[in-house]
Parts: sequence; structure tokens; C-alpha cells
Amino acid sequence: MTSAAAITTALESLRDAGSGRSLLKLGWIQNPRLANGRAVFRLTLPGFAHSQQGRIADEARAALLAVDGVDEVQIELAPQAPGGHQGAAIGAAGHGAPAAAAGQLPERQPIPGVSQVIAVSSGKGGVGKSTVAVNLACALAQSGLKVGLLDADIYGPNAPTMLGVADRTPEVRGEGASQVLTPIESCGIAMVSMGLLIAENQPVIWRGPMLNGIIRQFLYQVEWGERDVLVVDLPPGTGDAQLTVAQAVPMAGVVIVTTPQQVALADARRGLAMFLQMGIPVLGVVENMSAFIPPDAPDKRYALFGSGGGRQLAGEAGVPLLAELPLEMPVREGGDAGRPVVLSAPESATARAFASLATTLVQAAQPVAA
Ligand SMILES: Nc1ncnc2c1ncn2[C@@H]1O[C@H](COP(=O)(O)OP(=O)(O)O)[C@@H](O)[C@H]1O
Ligand SMILES: [Mg+2]
Repeated sequence: MTSAAAITTALESLRDAGSGRSLLKLGWIQNPRLANGRAVFRLTLPGFAHSQQGRIADEARAALLAVDGVDEVQIELAPQAPGGHQGAAIGAAGHGAPAAAAGQLPERQPIPGVSQVIAVSSGKGGVGKSTVAVNLACALAQSGLKVGLLDADIYGPNAPTMLGVADRTPEVRGEGASQVLTPIESCGIAMVSMGLLIAENQPVIWRGPMLNGIIRQFLYQVEWGERDVLVVDLPPGTGDAQLTVAQAVPMAGVVIVTTPQQVALADARRGLAMFLQMGIPVLGVVENMSAFIPPDAPDKRYALFGSGGGRQLAGEAGVPLLAELPLEMPVREGGDAGRPVVLSAPESATARAFASLATTLVQAAQPVAA
């Protein structure tokens, strides 16, 4: 394969988050070439896809640096609408910051009545973000706080099932921009989720811009009332949902969930870096599935996914390791049965760990709105 063809092949894996289509086919990536070890291409994103720029730059860099003969990557940014950088180039360095447009972010808008927003994020799916978000919300509510839960995983909403309200439909009042949604109350918390608005088994196939719009509606067009804390359950990765939430609302901070495994860590590291680059405080790392506790031998611990990964990630980033949550059958059972483990098995090791996570976070997160 010629080196130019190898570059094009490497870029073929890059996709639009909304439609899943190849960026080369969409014409957003143009003129890929290689000269003296430097891979160069032009990136032209339509306005609605601009929030994907950082992620695309990161993925392109990683894909191109894996090609033999590539030592450097340069991305030429096409001229944008007023306010953008005219023909700027994202740094030629091999690693480092995606050029999230720090100077261009609109002012963040607090949610009336909501004192602080804590997001739960991770690089990978299946590490237990939703489990952590739901149980953390319940544990915070048990400690006497008024708590909301915003399920921002539009494509894979799990909160309704985990809270046992998948069959409920929230009340929607008004039309268009003045439409207001009433959250569903369950386990002492107020929750909204795409899962409450679509029929079960119906795939969610909206494109990026709609996703941003829905998340913004979930932030600002929901009758949250007075909430001490709003917990936001994010989808995996560093995509549109993360950017939308991080750019829209002032946040007390984000909690990064990982398992101890090296593959989960690599992804979690990327997620963590993105929030730091956007100026969002990282409250700390939660290591989930730290050790398996067999139901018939509750004193035993098995490190199914290795050990120490969460501590390593937290140490690298200079943030606290907030909790090491065990892998226990009641956690999964509670999630599937719609009764989170902090309520269904409050004496379990995991429920106790969640209670102490809630206490730690309340102390760590400062209110962002008076
Ligand atoms: N600590 C745990 N112990 C047992 N099962 C868990 C634990 N954490 C998560 N699970 C289970 O793993 C699956 C994936 O968790 P989930 O919270 O949906 O992950 P994510 O939101 O990161 O995709 C769920 O079935 C959940 O019940
Ligand atoms: Mg989830």
C-alpha cells in the first residue's frame, strides 16, 4: 500500500457521531496526504457538527500515528462562520489537547433552583456509570438532600429500568420552546430520561444536533424544582453529550468511573483529560467492579478485572480516588429489578461504599449557584 493510501485507509474509521457515516464519504475530511513523516488533512465541519471537532482531532491523530512512517499529524481547519478561527491549524504535536474552542464557548447557564450539577462519565460503556449515577443519586437522597437525575444517555437510556419506572410517561405541558416536562419521582429522586419518552424497543436514531437539543431540554425545560444536586448520567466516551452538558451548565464537577482494567483505564484517561481541558473540575475517580464478592463467601475478594487501576488513574491526574466499589450480585439484581442496591440491600458492601461516596462528594463539591 502506498503511504498516501495508508493515510486514507486510517481515516476511513472516523465517523460522524450522529449518523455513523464516514467523515471521508461526508466530505468533512479532505485532501489527506503525507510529506516528510507529517500526515496532513483538511477538516471542514458543518456548524451542527462543530462540537465533535475535539473528538475527531483526537481520533484522527491516534489513527494516523499508528500508520508506519507517520511521526506528526497536522489538521487544517477550514474557515468557519464569524467567531471561528480562520484557517487555523490544530497543533502538529503527536499527542495532547484536542483544540476544544475554549475562547468561543457561550456563557454557561445555571438551572433555576438547582444548586449543583455533578456528572458521571467514563471512557467506556459497561463500566457501571449508570449504576453509579443511580445509586449515588439515591444515596444522596437518603442523606437528606433533594436530588435530581438527568439520564443524558439518549441512545441507551437505563435510568428508568434501574429505578423501576420504565412504564411511566412524564407529563409534558406547552408547545415548542416553552414545553415543560415533569420529572418522574422514584426512590426519592426526580428523574428524566429519553427512556420515558420513547416506546420500549424503539431504536433511537437521531442525529447529533437533535441530541444536543434534547439534552438542553432536559437541563432547562424540566420542572426540576429546588434541587441540592442534579446528577447527570452521561453516555460513554467524549462525544456530543459530554460537550453539550459541559458547555451548557456550570458544574460542580465530574466523577470518572472506571474498572481496574488497563483497557478501561486508557479510555477513562481520555475522558478525564477532556473535562480538564474544558475547565470542568474532576471531583475524582470511582473504581467500579474492584473486587468480586461471592454471595456464598462474603469475606472473600477476587480481583476479576485486576486491581489498582482506579488509584493509578487518580494518581496520574492528581485527583482523589473517591471509592472502590465491589462487584456484587445484588448490584446487578437491584439494577435489573428497578430497586438500586442502596435501597434493596443497604447492608451490602457496595451500598455502604455508595453511602460513603455520597458523603465524600457532598464535602468535595461546592455549590455553583446561590
Ligand atoms: N459493582 C457492580 N456489581 C455488579 N454488577 C454491576 C456493578 N456495576 C455495574 N454492574 C452491572 O453491569 C452492567 C453495566 O452497568 P451500567 O451501569 O449499565 O454501565 P454503563 O452505564 O457504564 O454502561 C449492568 O447490568 C449493571 O447492573
Ligand atoms: Mg449507562
